[in-house]
Amino acid sequence: MRLARAGAIDPKARIQVLRTGPSARAPSSSSDSIPLSEALDRILAGDCVETLRRLPDASVDLVFADPPYNLQLEGTLTRPDASVVDAVDDDWDKFASFADYDAFTRAWLAECRRVLKPNGTLFVIGSYHNIFRVGTALQDLGFWLLNDIVWRKANPMPNFRGRRFTNAHETMIWASRDAKAKGYTFNYEALKAGNEDCQVRSDWFLPLCTGAERLKGEDGAKAHPTQKPEALLARIVMAASNPGDVVLDPFFGTGTTGAVAKKLGRRFIGLERDPAYIAHAERRIAACAQTAPELLLAPAAKREEPRVAFAAIVEGALLNVGTVLTDAKRRHQATVRPDGTIMASGIVGSIHKIGALVQGLPACNGWTFWHREVDGKLEPIDALRAAYREAMAKAA
Ligand SMILES: C[S@@+](CC[C@H](N)C(=O)[O-])C[C@H]1O[C@@H](n2cnc3c(N)ncnc32)[C@H](O)[C@@H]1O
Repeated sequence: MRLARAGAIDPKARIQVLRTGPSARAPSSSSDSIPLSEALDRILAGDCVETLRRLPDASVDLVFADPPYNLQLEGTLTRPDASVVDAVDDDWDKFASFADYDAFTRAWLAECRRVLKPNGTLFVIGSYHNIFRVGTALQDLGFWLLNDIVWRKANPMPNFRGRRFTNAHETMIWASRDAKAKGYTFNYEALKAGNEDCQVRSDWFLPLCTGAERLKGEDGAKAHPTQKPEALLARIVMAASNPGDVVLDPFFGTGTTGAVAKKLGRRFIGLERDPAYIAHAERRIAACAQTAPELLLAPAAKREEPRVAFAAIVEGALLNVGTVLTDAKRRHQATVRPDGTIMASGIVGSIHKIGALVQGLPACNGWTFWHREVDGKLEPIDALRAAYREAMAKAA
């Protein structure tokens, strides 16, 4: 295995690394347990199963795990020009048998499940070599599968021998701690708002980690063979956690999860056993700046916002009876009635029903379809709903 030289570390740039040492071998007891406060925003050096055993129950909101893939590579992989491919042939990826790999997988997954809060979730990423074994273990251990997400690589490594399809994706399994878990974090509205108002799908098209983001050793070679792109982690962290939440990564590598967690105002716990990777992760995370807290607040999920009846807007005199509403292009008109309905071409109904009717559509969101004129400009009546909610929140 080619290990990158860690090089000199600027003491100011250091984050704290806790050496867990051989005493971590025993199952957790009060004497060797690690309090959550001592684990937050730290890299815990050592074997992840042993370290996990020392962390408190139900203390983590989200786990992202990028475990060994057990690639079972035999011999050196070469390109058609005989140059050697920089494949993952590291010791940490080698297991004597599938049974050994399964035992290891079940050990770390069981501990992750124990440290997860009841409403916590876990993402595991893998390839065809291991992800099916991981999926079985997850279900056997009581996790509940929520999605499998395909990370389609924009720039995959070609299949040099031309004997198989290009391996152009990895699979992530997203699971909740328990079957039918309620209240797990999924920032649906924020994801949708950032995706042209379309639901985010389970196939993600993202490039591999390259260029300036890819950490290099002093020899200029890749610091780690499987450094994940920050964009992948950012989507996971934003989707399944909130600012201040604790994100744990049992296979921390170069600290991609820690860097993204810090930037996005989450706390992290990193577990890693290779000192060279830890050194890279430390410097990387220390150099990251946190985004301003006010920019991190997720928009309130629509279903969490109190319902507002259009009648309440009329009754509250936010909109006068007789006001003529139009659509954004002034093609349709309707008049506000005192009972909270509107009338168009003699037909009376709700803002949604009349909005759908005038357009010849089966459904319509009347709050965003209908507008009123304010100082010569059209404004959606949804602005009145927001003002009403704000006033109600202040009064509460
Ligand atoms: C697939 S890599 C993770 C790379 C990481 N996601 C990144 O972006 O840099 C797996 C990492 O797990 C570490 N590892 C493997 N087995 C481990 C164990 N039993 N305990 C702690 N770390 C382990 C390896 O040293 C390696 O850095």
